[in-house]
Amino acid sequence: MTQSFPSAARSSAPSTSLWSPLAGRPGRRLCLSVLAACAAGCILPPEAKPLAPAGGKRLADAEVRPLREAAAPTKRHIGFAAQPAQLRDDAFRKVAAAHFDSLTPENQMKWETVEPQPGQFAFQAAEPLLAFAAENHMRVRGHTLVWHSQLAPWVKRLSGEALHAAMLGHIQGVVGHWKGRVAQWDVVNEALADGPSGRLRADSPFTALGPTFIDDAFRAAHQADPDAQLFYNDYEIEGVGTAKSDAAFALVKRLREAGVPVHGVGLQMHVDPRRWPAAERIRANIARFAALGVLVELTEMDVAVGEIAGSIEQKLDRQRTLTHDIVAACLAVDGCSGITFWGLTDRYSWLNSPRWGALRGQLPHYPLPFDADYRAKPMVAGILDALAGR
Ligand code: G3I
Repeated sequence: MTQSFPSAARSSAPSTSLWSPLAGRPGRRLCLSVLAACAAGCILPPEAKPLAPAGGKRLADAEVRPLREAAAPTKRHIGFAAQPAQLRDDAFRKVAAAHFDSLTPENQMKWETVEPQPGQFAFQAAEPLLAFAAENHMRVRGHTLVWHSQLAPWVKRLSGEALHAAMLGHIQGVVGHWKGRVAQWDVVNEALADGPSGRLRADSPFTALGPTFIDDAFRAAHQADPDAQLFYNDYEIEGVGTAKSDAAFALVKRLREAGVPVHGVGLQMHVDPRRWPAAERIRANIARFAALGVLVELTEMDVAVGEIAGSIEQKLDRQRTLTHDIVAACLAVDGCSGITFWGLTDRYSWLNSPRWGALRGQLPHYPLPFDADYRAKPMVAGILDALAGR
C-alpha cells in the first residue's frame, strides 16, 4: 500500500510543504481567498477560533466514563496536548481533569520559546501547564528538544561544531531545568525525510551534522535527567509497509544496538482516514518496535474527518471506528504505554487554522474526542469500548 499522509509535520514544515490532502484543492484556494478577506475575523489566534457546532450524535453524560479511570486498569496513559490560554476556560479544565492523566505542552517547550537567545532560557510559558498537570496528578510529556521547526532564529544561522554545541547546551539546559517534573521527552522530532528515501530530512539544519547527532542528543538528555524516558517521535511511521516507517525502525534499532539511551518511539497518529494504514499494520508496527525493547506511545492523535464523504453522523461514526481500532492496536501490545490526543476539544486544534482549510463552517475537521461545546463525541465511545476490550 502506498501511503501519502496528511501529516502534521507538513504542518510544521515550511510553506512549500502544505498538508498534502489539502494542498492544491478547492479548500485551499477557498482558504487563501478567505484569508485575504478576513482580516477582522483573524484577530483571534487561529487555534482559538471556535467552530460552529458540528451536529451529529453526542453521548449522554451517563455514557461517559472518565477516560483516565477507564484506562487505569490497562496501565496506559491517556493524554492531551494543551496551550496555557486554554486553561482559562473552566469547561476545558473540567474535561481535562476528569478524563486525562498525561499532558503535553503543545508549543511551550519548543526551542524558539525556551531558548530564544543563545544560553538565555525562558521557561515560564510552560509553567501554567505543569502546575495544572501537578494539581491533577498528570504525567508530563516534554515536546520537543531537537526539531527543525519552531527553532529559534539564531540556531538556524549555526552549522558544524557551533550547532552541535548549541544542541547539547539546549538539551542540558531544558532537560536539566525540568528534571524530575517531565516524565518523557520527545528528544528528537521528525528527523526523517518524507517519502521513500529513508534518509534524514534535507530541510533540517541538524542533518548536516551527520546521523550521530541523534545519538548525541539522546546521550545529553540522559545525562541531564537519567530518570526521564527518552523518545524518538515522528509522523507517517504509524504502520508497517512504508519506507519511512522502516527507516524509523532501522534508526531505533541502530540506536539500541549502539547502547544509546532511547527508551521509546512516538507514533504521532495524525489520522487522515482517506489514506491511513489498517489497524493491523499499526499493531504490527507497534509490536516490532516493542520487540526492540522500547516503549511505544501514540503521541499526537487526531482524526480529521471533515473531508470524507457522508453526513456528519457518518463522519463521526467513522471517526469512532477508526479511533477504536487504533486504541485497540495499542492495547494489543504490552509495550504500548500511552495514547495522547493533540488537543481535547474541536474548539482548539491546530487543524482549525486557516492554513489547513478549516475556517468556520467551511472545512471543519472535527478531529478530537470532545466537540466545540465540550460534549463527548462518538469518538469517546470508541475509546471507551477499546479500553474495555469490546
Ligand atoms: O507565537 C505566535 C504568536 O506570537 C502569534 O500571536 C500567533 C498568531 O496566530 O502565532 C503564534 O505562533 C503559532 C504557534 O503555533 C504558537 O501558537 C504559529 O503561528 C503556529 O503555526 C504554530 O502551530 C503549531 C505547529 O506545531 C507549528 O509547527 C501548532 O500549534 C502545533 O499544534 C503544531 O504541533 C506539531 C507538533 O509540534 C509536531 N508534530 C506535528 C504537530 C502538528 O503540526
